Amino acid sequence: MKRVRIFDTTLRDGEQSPGVSLTMAEKLEIGRQLARLRVDVIEAGYAAASPGDFASVQTLAKELRDVSVCSLARALEGDIERAYEAVRPAADPRIHVFIATSDVHMRHKLRMTREQVLEQIGRSVRHAAKLAPSIEFSPEDGGRTDPDFLALAVQTAIKAGATVINIPDTVGYLLPSEFGARLRRLREQVDFGSVQLSAHCHDDLGLAVANTLAAIEAGADQVEVTINGIGERAGNAALEEIAVALRLRQEMYGAETRLDLGQIVRTSQLVSRLTGMVVPPNKAVVGANAFAHESGIHQDGVIKERTTYEIIDPDMVGLTENKQLVLGKHSGRNAFRRHLEGLGYAPEEPEFQELFGRFKELCDRKKSVTDDDIVALLDDRFHRSDNPAFTLDFLHVSCGSFGLATATVKVTGPAGTVQEAVVAGGGVEAMYQALDSVTGVRPELASYTIAAVTSGPDALGEVRVQLRTGGSSRVFSGKSACIDVLEASARAYLDAVNKLVAAGQPDGRG
Ligand code: KIV
Ligand code: ZN
Repeated sequence: MKRVRIFDTTLRDGEQSPGVSLTMAEKLEIGRQLARLRVDVIEAGYAAASPGDFASVQTLAKELRDVSVCSLARALEGDIERAYEAVRPAADPRIHVFIATSDVHMRHKLRMTREQVLEQIGRSVRHAAKLAPSIEFSPEDGGRTDPDFLALAVQTAIKAGATVINIPDTVGYLLPSEFGARLRRLREQVDFGSVQLSAHCHDDLGLAVANTLAAIEAGADQVEVTINGIGERAGNAALEEIAVALRLRQEMYGAETRLDLGQIVRTSQLVSRLTGMVVPPNKAVVGANAFAHESGIHQDGVIKERTTYEIIDPDMVGLTENKQLVLGKHSGRNAFRRHLEGLGYAPEEPEFQELFGRFKELCDRKKSVTDDDIVALLDDRFHRSDNPAFTLDFLHVSCGSFGLATATVKVTGPAGTVQEAVVAGGGVEAMYQALDSVTGVRPELASYTIAAVTSGPDALGEVRVQLRTGGSSRVFSGKSACIDVLEASARAYLDAVNKLVAAGQPDGRG
């Protein structure tokens, strides 16, 4: 059985999804969960992009064991050295060097000739190979690169010391038969020796998973994927779909991974909650309807024999019922900590104390506390900015079916504690205007969604907002879950404001 390596790029290509911006704590939480899922490589970010990106890659490199940690780098010495600095503490550090090789990219984006690009590949990969033992090279837009030039570029990178060659279909253009043929031809043209061949597919034509599976059939040793298929534009190949297809149709592929498939649903839910990218109900493997049977004929079949209409065993991907938490307001810290561990979370002491306090508050206000409630509280904690500029001290909203609504907010920020009351048409509007006034940030509300975490009138309300600064296409997302939906609305808004301020757009006017 051939071993296919899983290179997860949720934290790099996935984080490039419009509107997604993860804090360091969130990246670490996702990184830990990816390690539990037993992916082989985690692309933790692009270290040279900003000091924040550098710090996140380095933190993951220090914290995670039994997984290779990788940073992306342009084929430039400065980028490569930053990437190496960041991944150096990892058990198995990797630098991922890329430069575009298609004519359209070289001519219009790089403004370089083929010869210049080949020269830069050789120079940059040689430099990277002096620093780290594991060097991956990607000819960007490899899917649209002239096949003979692609072979030359790959040969140059291998000669310079690349240990993995990744072929990206950057714009998701190829069909499965074409992508497979391209990899086979490359293997014929270039002597790979012990160098691994990898595939990286985008989903612009909805073919990322099909193309990735075609790559495995064509002999790829590694595939690059993201959880829930998130990523640039239409996204990347979805890890969960490839993992399940490989397991279920092993006889076709003769290939296996080292993934713990039982962690798939938990990983999908974590990534969805922290990125704010909702999984469509009909999404394969992890969508809410993936195991739901609506038609009477199907229900009858499944009751008689599950496999009549269900090819995937829900247990295989870790789909368990939302259990009632057996803890209550009299439960102690140890029992709560053990329960969190059972859910796969091990927060550090200060986070644990805060969480325990919020759990106790919730027990006072809610009859039954479920695992989903606890996970929502945990995610709420991780979603917040690392050093928030503004914190909410007090909120009071008065609204109803008659007359105007009044919101009073008290917020502590860089200028001290400020209080403000605003009257407006509705409670959320009044509250958001009051928050704009006390923070001095006046963003545009790009989207606002609210959903119950569990069922019942006392369910936690989870609010997600997306803010945009005037004239900018960049979106900042915020999220909060509270038993009171107005409080959740205020906290989600302030969460997004804090991210916007941290990104250096403090007046919110772009
Ligand atoms: O899609 C792409 O080309 C990439 C490369 C940087 C590998 O993400
Ligand atoms: Zn990509």
